[in-house]
Amino acid sequence: MYLCTQIRILYKILINIVSMNIKDRVESLQAQVEKMNAANQQELETLRLKFMSKKGEMGELMDEFKALPKEEKAQWGQTVNALRQTIEARFNDLKTQLAEKNEAVQEKTDLTRTPDSVEMGSRHPLSLVREEIVDIFSRIGFTVADGPEVEDDRHVFSLLNFAPEHPARDMQDTFFIEKEEGVQKPTDILLRTHTSSVQTRIMLSQQPPIRVLCPGRVYRNEAISARAHCFFHQVEGLYIDKNVSFADLRQTLLYFAKEMFGADTKIRLRPSYFPFTEPSAEMDISCDLCGGKGCAFCKGTGWVEILGCGMVDPNVLEACGIDSKVYSGYAFGMGVERITNLKYRVKDLRLFSENDVRFLSQFESC
Ligand code: DAH
Repeated sequence: MYLCTQIRILYKILINIVSMNIKDRVESLQAQVEKMNAANQQELETLRLKFMSKKGEMGELMDEFKALPKEEKAQWGQTVNALRQTIEARFNDLKTQLAEKNEAVQEKTDLTRTPDSVEMGSRHPLSLVREEIVDIFSRIGFTVADGPEVEDDRHVFSLLNFAPEHPARDMQDTFFIEKEEGVQKPTDILLRTHTSSVQTRIMLSQQPPIRVLCPGRVYRNEAISARAHCFFHQVEGLYIDKNVSFADLRQTLLYFAKEMFGADTKIRLRPSYFPFTEPSAEMDISCDLCGGKGCAFCKGTGWVEILGCGMVDPNVLEACGIDSKVYSGYAFGMGVERITNLKYRVKDLRLFSENDVRFLSQFESC
């Protein structure tokens, strides 16, 4: 009799433990259901697996429920059932919400709409002018050559008749990448100061006739002002053949000036000095603002300077492996910024590198 009572008590305790578990689980699940949410299909599927699958929360709750003794089943049956319905209802709600959201997005996406227009950029004025220069010379047989901006002293200076320590080197002070102590040597590595270095490369690798244009960026170490640029752009030209004369040079440059600045343009050549040409000259064009009468722009002279030129010094031809007794040639070089300035009257050179679209877009129709 005593043992029977003991067993009954133990049984009741066990039942209580199980009911406790089911109570905790039901309460925890009720709390979780309130927070159930899914932002997309993937999250919805995660919810389904977590709560509604056989191995999920609800599955485990049902297992526990099935293990309850009869009288406990009667007590928990309704609660568990209601919880299952709540979970299912919440899940279906979320599913409908997501479907509606997807539909709304699809409705908003009008596939027939004209796409936003893409703003077209415009050519940079320096590129436009460089191309125009190249175009003018290519009409009389010049081709274009390219070369490195990081060069050695040999191609930039030595082969072009710049003697070591000659003051002519001061006209083109540059930035050195690798320099030996003391006097400048042909092996020093530097940023090219002119595209004449491309001309030396061409003369070393080709025999005349040579008729080539060398456009490109060049560097100078000039501290004119804190905001001054250390680089600019050039187009240089070289023509070497038998019987090339100064008259050929003059006529070619006159043709260029008329094509670039208009048929009325006049030119004049003034004696100058470059180590690589002999004789050397600076070329001016008649000022198109005042028609040559003299104004503030041309400082009252009626002329504006646009380029340097001359007959290639025989020393340069020989240094580059070209027989100076058989061949002669002319060379010229101009700054693209300078030509652009004259053509479009750009007052401040800094505008060329500031990337201001208000400035750049003015060249769209050019
Ligand atoms: N290289 C010169 C400079 O940068 C410009 C120049 C002058 C180039 C005369 C030439 C030339 O080819 O013959 O100042």
